[in-house]
Amino acid sequence: MAKIVILTGAGISAESGIRTFRASDGLWEEHRIEDVATPEGFVQDPELVHRFYNARRAAATAAQPNPAHIALAELEADPGHEVLIVTQNVDDLHERGGSQNVLHMHGTLFGALCHSCEHRWPAPEVMSPTDSCPSCSAQATRPDIVWFGEMPYRMEEIWHALRAADLFVSIGTSGNVYPAAGFVADAMHAGVPTLELNLEPSAGRSMFDEARHGPASVLVPQWVRERLG
Ligand code: OAD
Repeated sequence: MAKIVILTGAGISAESGIRTFRASDGLWEEHRIEDVATPEGFVQDPELVHRFYNARRAAATAAQPNPAHIALAELEADPGHEVLIVTQNVDDLHERGGSQNVLHMHGTLFGALCHSCEHRWPAPEVMSPTDSCPSCSAQATRPDIVWFGEMPYRMEEIWHALRAADLFVSIGTSGNVYPAAGFVADAMHAGVPTLELNLEPSAGRSMFDEARHGPASVLVPQWVRERLG
């Protein structure tokens, strides 16, 4: 049984029509990252932040999984492989592509979180600052997304899986945002072989044992076919 930990980033969803973050202008869908993806931005203008994520949620719902998502689900279904997908993406395209073992380290567009009591529940299609928490009734609802300056979810579990893996694969991520960008070094120090599949060399390229560059919709199905023989 080969244990594979797969880190995915925005690049795997690019061909499903969801824009990546570091598109050149430093903006995320015409907004400054500080305004829409930090706790300070949310305090400043919760209306704007909710509007922003409502639009992202609608776009993710309208998108379809592409051959890269689907190939990873095929790998997971193979009895010779134990696959854990650790995704930085807040869309649900891995799940809709058929993957089951998916860990959203940066949260999800489809979750709501109460700032006051930390209760979590499924996000409605449209969230607003006046939504009340179903548990404590506070009007302190936010998207269940990890913002800059916050700690990503389930890190202990991820590090444990990384150290126990037979292979670490990084797909569609620029390697700019820690702690995910450090996984290749963590794997390397644990003696775990590493592979990068990305459109272009990532910031961490030199640390990977092997790297292949091209679109995920081509590289990922190709690699999965090789694994499945
Ligand atoms: P980035 O936008 O930083 O990087 C996307 C990577 O995908 C780039 O290296 C592209 O070359 C590559 N790419 C683009 N199209 C591709 C394709 N069709 N096939 C394969 N690769 C392709 O996105 P992330 O690395 O995911 O955090 O960004 C990491 C985190 O920073 C995000 O989770 C988000 C962001 O700001 C938070 O919101 C907390």
